[in-house]
Amino acid sequence: AVLLPQIFTDVLVIGAGVAGMRAALAAADEGASESTDVIIATKGILQDSSTYWAQGGVAAVMDEADSFESHTEDTMIAGAGLCDKYAVETIVKQAPKRIQELIDWGMRFDQSSESNTPSLAREGGHTHRRILHADGDGTGKAFALTLYDQILEHDAIRLFDDCFVLDYITDKDNHTCLGAITHHPKYGLQVIWASSTIVASGGCGHLYRESTNPSTVTGDGIAAAFRAGAQLQDMAFVQFHPTTLYIAGAARSLISEAVRGEGAYLLDKDGHRFMQDYDSRGELAPRDVVAKSIIKQISKTQHTNVYLDVRHLGKNFLKRFPGISKQLQAFDINPLTDLIPVHPSAHYMVGGIKTDLNGRTNITGLYACGEVAATGLHGANRLASNSLLEGLVMGATAGQTALEMAHKNTIKPPVKIISDIRISERSNLDLDDVRSSLRSIMWRNVSIERSGQMLDEVQTSINFWAQYTLDKIFDDRHGWETQNMLTLGSLITQAARWRAESRGTHQRTDCNQTSDQFKVHDIWHIGSETPT
Ligand code: SIN
Repeated sequence: AVLLPQIFTDVLVIGAGVAGMRAALAAADEGASESTDVIIATKGILQDSSTYWAQGGVAAVMDEADSFESHTEDTMIAGAGLCDKYAVETIVKQAPKRIQELIDWGMRFDQSSESNTPSLAREGGHTHRRILHADGDGTGKAFALTLYDQILEHDAIRLFDDCFVLDYITDKDNHTCLGAITHHPKYGLQVIWASSTIVASGGCGHLYRESTNPSTVTGDGIAAAFRAGAQLQDMAFVQFHPTTLYIAGAARSLISEAVRGEGAYLLDKDGHRFMQDYDSRGELAPRDVVAKSIIKQISKTQHTNVYLDVRHLGKNFLKRFPGISKQLQAFDINPLTDLIPVHPSAHYMVGGIKTDLNGRTNITGLYACGEVAATGLHGANRLASNSLLEGLVMGATAGQTALEMAHKNTIKPPVKIISDIRISERSNLDLDDVRSSLRSIMWRNVSIERSGQMLDEVQTSINFWAQYTLDKIFDDRHGWETQNMLTLGSLITQAARWRAESRGTHQRTDCNQTSDQFKVHDIWHIGSETPT
């Protein structure tokens, strides 16, 4: 038996994307007078977050011709009947203030050449130009670095890189979170006791063979919340980005929606511009519509992919999208003369840990914000560039709430934790194989088009793998991540099975219509076989 090292803090933040870093800053600032201590634990490094990889930008009403009502309406239309209007209005209205804060901290959004104001781009589903961007298509990196510089200035914030959170520590009697058990390759298992714990660990895109996400994104924060008794909401809704670069053998890199916003065409293998056949909004329809149309056209033309055509945009393309141009160059694709092969990939987890608009979950002391959370903003399909926005706004709010509650949280943690963990015998299954088989079957059967039968097959496979994996005690990340991926795969499949209709990102080929019976959020928690 080993006595685990213990660390004490006021606020533990899990994840170092936009939501986590903004939450940490809020927690540290508001508490300055009370000497608040904040720890950010991230399983990788700064560059591993989905925020860092984000290209397109952040949506906000910044132009006199635009309005909060219009941003709200566009969000609700994309959300296909499941957005909570109050959540949408609350978040949309805070956008300009939170953006201004970033500008004050040194964030340099690209400026319009005519006026001294941020240049505003358009993306699918937006009826106005309202996407602020930086370094052309490097918005996420600029966001991350701006927030990181602020973090470095705060003595009260400690950043623990390479620190994997296995589980939250909960007091079952009080249904309260007291911190987390973590693992660091150098320090091993540790206990971090925290008066408030904020989960901002992102989504689960790596659950799919085709994904725009970093490989670190394995759904750990949601799986741990589920094990701790948190309520999860709308788990069937996984968003697929319509256009990722499709080159056999290469990682799927994103080709931003903003490329279509600047006027790119989508062509099939015969050169036919097909989007008008499916929707009068053409290439600028919301991304669920574009992704579904691409899948249909791929099946119609019996070709592996479709193409983005930006040749008519000329050299402006290279200037506006320097990062994408560089990626294309690496594969000898010249956007001025060549078509760009693209295909949809898993991009964003719309469902997640249910929170209120203060970032609270149903567990006292446990908060969630950003992609890991479900606030009701995105409904059944997220509007482009509303995710950095949500992370920024809800990160700040959750940080403030968590801090206030930290000072009220009187539960005294026990002072010693003895680990008597006995690592299980090796699994009969090869975990690498389980992981890649899971990613393949999720892509084949639980992506854009699904049916009851396809989902049943997935559940059977996951149950089989889980039988040899979920109750094992592993001593490495690979094992813990695989367990989390199986948990998430099962939850998404179960929710998709229950939702016998087509709505937003979720297309059931055996229930093609949208049904009023399912115009509800489905909420799942440990032990539930049907949602509440
Ligand atoms: C993109 O640049 O297309 C991604 C933006 C987003 O996911 O909101």
